[in-house]
This record gives sequence, C-alpha cells and structure tokens, in this order.
Amino acid sequence: VNDQQPTKVAIITGASKGFGKAAAASLLGAGWTVVGDARSKETLAATAAELAKSGSFLTVPGDVLDDDHLQELVARAESAGRFQLLVNNAGALGPSPLPGLAEVAIDDLRDLFWVNTAAPLRLIQIALPALSRSSGVVINLTSDAAAEAYEGWGAYGATKIALEKLTSVLAVEHPSIHFYSLDPGDMRTDMHQAAFPGEDISDRADPTTSAPAVLRLASAELASGRYSASQLV
Ligand SMILES: NC(=O)c1ccc[n+]([C@@H]2O[C@H](COP(=O)([O-])OP(=O)(O)OC[C@H]3O[C@@H](n4cnc5c(N)ncnc54)[C@H](OP(=O)(O)O)[C@@H]3O)[C@@H](O)[C@H]2O)c1
Repeated sequence: VNDQQPTKVAIITGASKGFGKAAAASLLGAGWTVVGDARSKETLAATAAELAKSGSFLTVPGDVLDDDHLQELVARAESAGRFQLLVNNAGALGPSPLPGLAEVAIDDLRDLFWVNTAAPLRLIQIALPALSRSSGVVINLTSDAAAEAYEGWGAYGATKIALEKLTSVLAVEHPSIHFYSLDPGDMRTDMHQAAFPGEDISDRADPTTSAPAVLRLASAELASGRYSASQLV
C-alpha cells in the first residue's frame, strides 16, 4: 500500500521577486512544490538558484498576458503532483509617478486591467478543472488601494477592486474551491518604490513578513473572502 501523500503543488505568478518570491519561499519551506513565472528569464533563474536549496521550485518564464504561457503553467503544475493552489500575484502599478485620473492615459488603464484583472481570471479559467478535482485554493493579491480612495491610485485601485469582485463571485459559483482576496499591506518592493519614486521606503515591511499569510490561506481553513495579511500572520 502506498500511503504517501501526493506532492502538493502551487502556481505563483510573479515569483521572481517581491511578495511572489517570499510566498514561494514560505510554501517551499512547508514542503510544497512551487511553479513560478515572471517575464525576465534572468531574474527568475537567479531566484530559482537561490530557492533551490529550500525545495522544488519549477520555473516557466513568460508573460501572464500570453494564453499559451498560462496553459503551460497549469500543465507543468498538473504534471508535478496534486495541483491545489493558485496565487495570482503578478501585477502592474501603471505609470510612475502615479497620474491623477484627469491625466491617466486610457491605454495605460486598459493595460492595467489586462494584467491585474483579466489575466488572473484567465489563469483561473484554465486551472478550474484541476482545482475542482483537488478542492483547491485561489489567492488573488489585492491592495488597500482597492478599498480606499488615495490620490493617484484610481486606475490601479479600480483594477484591484474589480479583481476582488471576480474573486467573490467565483466563490459563490464554485463552492468546492476556496477563493481569497489577500491584501499584503505596504511592502518594500520594486513596485512600491515605483509608486514613491525617489522616496525612502525602507520603513515599509519586507515581503517575508506578510508572505506566511499565503500558507495560512492555503490550508483552506478560513471561509472564502477578503483578508489582510496583518490579520493572518
Ligand atoms: N508592494 C506593495 O506594497 C503592495 C501592496 C499591496 C498589494 N500589492 C500587490 O502584491 C503583488 C506583488 O507585488 P510586489 O510589490 O511584490 O511587485 P514586484 O516586486 O514588482 O514583483 C512583481 C512580480 O511580478 C512579475 N510580473 C509583473 N508583470 C508580469 C507579467 N505581465 N507576467 C508575468 N510576471 C509578471 C515580476 O517579474 P517581471 O517583471 O520579470 O515579469 C515580478 O516577479 C501585486 O499584485 C501587487 O499589486 C503590493
């Protein structure tokens, strides 16, 4: 009798740096196999070399806007074991410095919706059959800019509140899967620096502080919904 548990597999988009890299390290430390992507092959390879000592980190370089790439991510995750967690973490901020809504270029707004809202949904669509079989978990990264009205954060915030809506409707449409919106809080990352160009952001938390929230949600003990990392870790 083979009583070994199958390998738990997670996909994390944007796993080469920032929160995605920290979340990957957290899951690897708990024995998960992680399939990660990013557009920059070089950065992803460097991160893979660093994380290799912590566990099985598989890389599929590519852009979340590319449907073939999303199919490849899911195929890789399914062939690696029991695919049961999808973390939609890759995201864009838009132009830096952040423009007010009177000035925001509509093409930039459209691009932001593609990366932050449409691409996560497309990846969920492709992953749904496998996640239904594994009663899996989806975590979509959101922001307090979705909930609050901050000057300059209108376009980005609109894409994130839209993502939260997709998340909550998916939860009622697919009750066998847990769907979470996760607000990681302010973090010292390249994206956060781009939002505050030239400013010292060293007082913001390192992403490794909030990353364990992913592990907590991955256990599927909490009801589907919106959570802040500060509530969970
Ligand atoms: N930092 C904060 O304070 C903060 C606060 C609230 C929410 N968030 C959210 O947390 C998530 C992670 O943010 P972060 O600060 O860690 O960002 P980050 O440091 O800029 O990292 C973003 C990651 O996503 C990848 N990525 C970006 N666009 C991609 C695309 N089109 N296809 C594939 N990969 C892509 C990047 O690699 P490549 O550039 O090589 O593709 C990188 O690995 C985002 O959803 C963000 O909105 C961040």
